Parts: sequence; C-alpha cells; structure tokens
Amino acid sequence: MYKKPLIVLNFKTYSESMGEKAVLMAKYCQEVSIESGVNIISCPQTPDIFRVASAVKIPVFAQHIDSAGAGSFTGHITADCVRSNGAKGTLINHSERRVLLSEIDSAIQASRKAGLKTIVCTNNIAVTSAAAALLPDFVAVEPPELIGSRIPVSKANPEIVSGSVEAVKKINPKVKVLCGAGISTGDDVASAIELGTVGVLLASGVIKAKDPRAALFDLVKKI
Ligand code: G3P
Repeated sequence: MYKKPLIVLNFKTYSESMGEKAVLMAKYCQEVSIESGVNIISCPQTPDIFRVASAVKIPVFAQHIDSAGAGSFTGHITADCVRSNGAKGTLINHSERRVLLSEIDSAIQASRKAGLKTIVCTNNIAVTSAAAALLPDFVAVEPPELIGSRIPVSKANPEIVSGSVEAVKKINPKVKVLCGAGISTGDDVASAIELGTVGVLLASGVIKAKDPRAALFDLVKKI
C-alpha cells in the first residue's frame, strides 16, 4: 500500500473538504490513484472518518490521535476508535496540532497497538531526527512558514528535505520520508522524489483549487 510514490492529502478543517464534500474529495483521490497507480491517502476531520472510509477503498488517515486509551478520558481521540471507524493510520504532531515529544512517542505506540500507520510531522532536520528515533512509519518534514504559501518546500528549501532524508537514513532506514508545505504541482512532487522522499503531504494546492480533481491529476503527471 505504501510503495513509492505517496501523496497524502490533508483535508484540515477546510469547508471544501468537510462532511459530504469530504467524501467527494476522497472519491477524487481514489479516481486519480486508480488511474495513475500512485498511492493517495485522504486525511479528513475525525468526525468524517467513518463516512469517508465507508465510501472509498484507498487509505483514510486521522489528522491527529491522543495517546489516551480506553477508560475515563473526555474529549480525547483514541487510536482504537479511529481504527474501528475505518482509519488505516494517522498524522501526529502536525504544525497546526503540535504535541510534546513524549506525546508523539505515546501516540506512535498507541497507533502501533491499534494497527494504525503513523506519519509524524516535523519542521526541521533536528526534529525530524528526533521523530525518526521513535520509529514512526513515516516522517513528513514541513517548514511551517511555507504552509499555504504555494512556494514548494522542494524548491524553496531543498536542503531541509535532502538533509532530513540523510538524517533519517542514519537513524533508521525503515522510516520513510515525506515532505510538505506549498506543494501544488506535478513538478513539485517530482522534485520532492528527486530529493529522496517517497512522496508529499499537501492540502491547499488541491483542497482550495478551482478544480481539485484536475489538481490531483496534475500532481501525478510527472510520476
Ligand atoms: O499537512 C500538509 C499541510 O500542512 C501543507 O499545507 O496548504 O501548503 O499544502 P499546504
């Protein structure tokens, strides 16, 4: 499921990808994935996980989980619950949902126990190295200042991408590296893969596009 290349589409809390629109966005992802052979993962808001995972066969990931387990916890999102609602994995520590290093570790362990894949989001090479030491399935390096900028990290700051790839190789070559922030075209994806990543994590380049389906097809055209 996670062979090269991989596109992870974060629906965030955009109104364009919420509720029934989340299902439509995930169906676009599925159509492009089937036609191109590129693996595409949809990341809807938590309340939309069940309806999206029930509508598509491609992997659906949560945007965040807490390390709380079953029991007396209020307002937490557990790995078991998102798994039972059809999620196959989760983002952890996205720059818009930062958590402590100890919480990243607990969330990875809870995810592993529940059978969820993990993508830990990082903001520089040092944090990427720390995250890789916790053995997630993926790390996704994203300089926050480029998020939503349409200035692709693979062009604006290639060193942070190649440096993260090298750092993770030294720590654990099994951990795969994604990059994100400002990604919106097939050229951006091709540059990310040339820098040694297995794919990209993106949001506004597709979700806010006039034609999200066309934007997804453009993303895969160079792969
Ligand atoms: O999770 C990916 C996201 O933070 C990147 O945002 O809008 O620059 O693709 P965007």
